[in-house]
Amino acid sequence: MTDALWYFGRGSGVVSLVLLSLVVALGVAARSGRTPFGLPRFAVSMLHRNVGLTAVVFLSGHVLSLLFDPYAQLRVFDLVVPFAGNYRPLWLGLGTVGLDLLAAIVVTSLLRRRIGASGWRAVHWLAYLCWPVALLHGLGTGTDRGTWWLWATAMSGAALVIAAVGWRLTPDFDRRTRRRVAARLLVSEGVR
Ligand code: HEM
Repeated sequence: MTDALWYFGRGSGVVSLVLLSLVVALGVAARSGRTPFGLPRFAVSMLHRNVGLTAVVFLSGHVLSLLFDPYAQLRVFDLVVPFAGNYRPLWLGLGTVGLDLLAAIVVTSLLRRRIGASGWRAVHWLAYLCWPVALLHGLGTGTDRGTWWLWATAMSGAALVIAAVGWRLTPDFDRRTRRRVAARLLVSEGVR
């Protein structure tokens, strides 16, 4: 049973990391005037949300299984307060920071209508901090740290996110987005 928890904890951690990379890239794509593969924007947004929720499910599995795994000796406290654990405190603490940030992003997304768009957006920007912190935790904490396959998996996700962010920073991304907003305004004012 202990071995099963340990394997599940590692596997679900890797899946969570891959899904988080995908979520960040999809979140960037959903904001663009030209979506990847010509997908409709609502499809990219739905994919972003559903992959995000799936990441949360795997992440819950990750922390719960490792909480009951006797080797890391985690306490519930370590899931919330970073850098206080006994097991590789720095690397583990980065995971806790990632979890705290993700919790803030999920809660504010659920309360989006109540807190308004600007409050929601301000917290959602924390995703840009959450993802690298989670990446460092994944590369530095586990049994598989230093293995080629974990690095290859993490670096593929990193390449995807860096490409999406690079695309977001191009003037073309902004121009297309502005054109889309202007077109939407014209439609809402009944000009088109
Ligand atoms: C953003 C959230 C997180 C992500 C994406 C994540 C992902 C990962 C990944 C990829 C690994 C490496 C697994 C391996 O070596 O095969 C790992 C290991 C580990 N994580 Fe997380 N993690 C997160 C949050 C947390 C939190 C909050 C805790 C507990 C406080 C935690 C506890 C651990 C432990 C103890 C290991 C070592 C497992 C082992 O190999 O024995 N993680 N995590």
